[in-house]
Amino acid sequence: MTAAVPRPPQAPSTPARQAPPGPALIEVLTRAAGHGSPAAFELDGRPMTLVTDPEQVRQVLACRPEVYVKHSHRARALLGDGLITATGDAWKRQRRLLQARFTVTGVRRYEAGIAAAAERIARRWSAAAGTGDLVDVGEDMRFFALDTIWRALTGDPLDEAAHRELAAVDTVVAALPTTAGAPTGDPAEVGAALGRIDATARRVIAAARARRAAHGPSDALLDLLLDASGSDAGDPDRLVRDELVTLLVAGHETTAQTLAWLFLMLHQNIHVPRTSEPGALVAETLRLYPAVWLVPRCAARDDVLGGRRVAAGSGVLVCPYLTHREPAWWPDPERFDPARFLPGGVRPAHPGAYVPFGLGPRACLGQQFALRETAALLARLLPAFTVELRDPPAAPVFGANLRPGGPLPAVVRRRT
Ligand code: HEM
Repeated sequence: MTAAVPRPPQAPSTPARQAPPGPALIEVLTRAAGHGSPAAFELDGRPMTLVTDPEQVRQVLACRPEVYVKHSHRARALLGDGLITATGDAWKRQRRLLQARFTVTGVRRYEAGIAAAAERIARRWSAAAGTGDLVDVGEDMRFFALDTIWRALTGDPLDEAAHRELAAVDTVVAALPTTAGAPTGDPAEVGAALGRIDATARRVIAAARARRAAHGPSDALLDLLLDASGSDAGDPDRLVRDELVTLLVAGHETTAQTLAWLFLMLHQNIHVPRTSEPGALVAETLRLYPAVWLVPRCAARDDVLGGRRVAAGSGVLVCPYLTHREPAWWPDPERFDPARFLPGGVRPAHPGAYVPFGLGPRACLGQQFALRETAALLARLLPAFTVELRDPPAAPVFGANLRPGGPLPAVVRRRT
């Protein structure tokens, strides 16, 4: 904080009951968190440790990454050996390659593409305001987020064919298990969707190669990936494909869900000024609805966390959703209050108390990109339009990402 609130005394960690599959996981975790942090429980017969205390979150994600490792990633079929799933030296190489393009300064090069993508949505909303047609806010946010990352990757605006093909990504993401080992969606459907994603990726990579041959290298991320790809003699495009799909998936679902939640928050909190600082609106939305609500790790060896033993091989779950709602750290935690993130606002100073982008070496590569694109879109839309959601979904879906439980149809009007 600016005014740090002390931790409450810890209750003994009692094993919670066996987890049912699927959406009830959040209930299991909420119950387990009630026993203190870290909390031991079983999930599908596997020993798990839930970590919600900010200092323990920091230990797991930032201080001891060699103990708390990524393991048998649930999205490997989709992401291959891209940055999210890679480990060891391969991860280090890839992270180093991409890092400079995603710093505060590095993302400036995407500003024109982001502005053009925001303008596209503004035009769509202007047209809908003229005709009175409903817009689907969730769909528009997904299109925007995909358009921005597509432009960064390829240098081109997202075209309708690619947009249609990439719907397959959502099929796969929706079918992902929430934690490693949990059941996945229909294998045939997922397999077909993966096939479509592969075909799209290969087509885009071939086009980028051809363009490079004709016109020389460009500023697009794909060119950077192609430059670095030469060494894989078997299939030089394989890692490029994996990284392309990784950036497409990581770079659009999370941003799209965050923006969807933000419009839902504004709908439910009419007292919050629409002209609030966009950065504060986004930050507070990410506190209450962190798209990555669960960050799983595996203990590579025995360890002690918060005075309790964590056995080698057990799963460790960091849960930003629960940590961000911990009343000892966040006064009146259920209240949507963007002022927490304005200068002088009361928020915890501990780096583990607010982790929507993770923490430590595996923290989000695209944080600055996400903050810039969301701020740019809101700065374009909020002063220009009013948004009235019709029948917004009531319950969140705690899946691979945290998302609103249905579409967000809305009437948009031009502000006078
Ligand atoms: C609001 C939007 C976003 C949120 C909430 C978010 C959240 C996260 C979180 C929590 C992690 C860490 C996961 C872990 O430690 O296991 C992560 C990793 C990652 N994110 Fe994001 N992300 C967002 C947007 C983006 C964007 C726009 C991109 C790409 C342009 C991106 C690319 C990545 C990548 C590549 C990783 C893996 C990094 C590594 O392991 O080295 N993300 N993200």
